[in-house]
Amino acid sequence: MSAPDPIALLAADRAAARDQQDGWAAVCALGTVNSEGDAEQRTLVLRDTHERLSLFFSATSPKWQELQSRPSANLLIYLPSTQVQYRLRVLWERIDDSVVRNSWQLRPDMPKKLDWFYQSHAQSTVVSRDHLEASLAESEPTPDTAPDTAIGVYLNPIRIERLELSSGVHQRDRFEWIGAEWHHTTLVP
Ligand SMILES: Cc1cc2nc3c(=O)[nH]c(=O)nc-3n(C[C@H](O)[C@H](O)[C@H](O)COP(=O)(O)O)c2cc1C
Repeated sequence: MSAPDPIALLAADRAAARDQQDGWAAVCALGTVNSEGDAEQRTLVLRDTHERLSLFFSATSPKWQELQSRPSANLLIYLPSTQVQYRLRVLWERIDDSVVRNSWQLRPDMPKKLDWFYQSHAQSTVVSRDHLEASLAESEPTPDTAPDTAIGVYLNPIRIERLELSSGVHQRDRFEWIGAEWHHTTLVP
């Protein structure tokens, strides 16, 4: 018997959490490794682009350097409303620029301004709060196209682990993508 599709399972779990107004349904924690070999994590909006898991961010940020240093990364999703946790190992893949540019148009004004600010001040670098506020308050209109540093990646899961904190014995399942199909095993919770 073939294993259930864990990507469909994840989509159903996120939809159920969204129905319960669970704010965590929209986000994930992306784990990468920095140049010193230390783990780095940050919260990101986890999007569905063309029905594929995806992330959008600035190429000026450390996370892009870290992602580029390896083909894989880790994702953590916890849905408190249903007490379900996912841990994913993913292979990332650049999203076509035209898709990123179209999606960028939907961003609110301030994130758009910030994306342009990153051109002169890379994200996650030191800045004075006064300079930041003054620059973003400038009346000059922000260009209405995405800067080249706006990028997106698709996430292709190769391992998915789902933990459900059900009453009694918790349910922990692992799905591995081997030979073009998902293989399911149960883990000690
Ligand atoms: C709820 C939430 C959602 C976020 N979504 C994004 C996002 O989609 N893209 C992004 O670049 N940063 C997002 N951030 C900010 C990141 O967590 C992080 O601070 C920033 O990207 C810099 O990360 P880095 O220095 O590790 O590259 C979000 C933060 C929070 C709290």
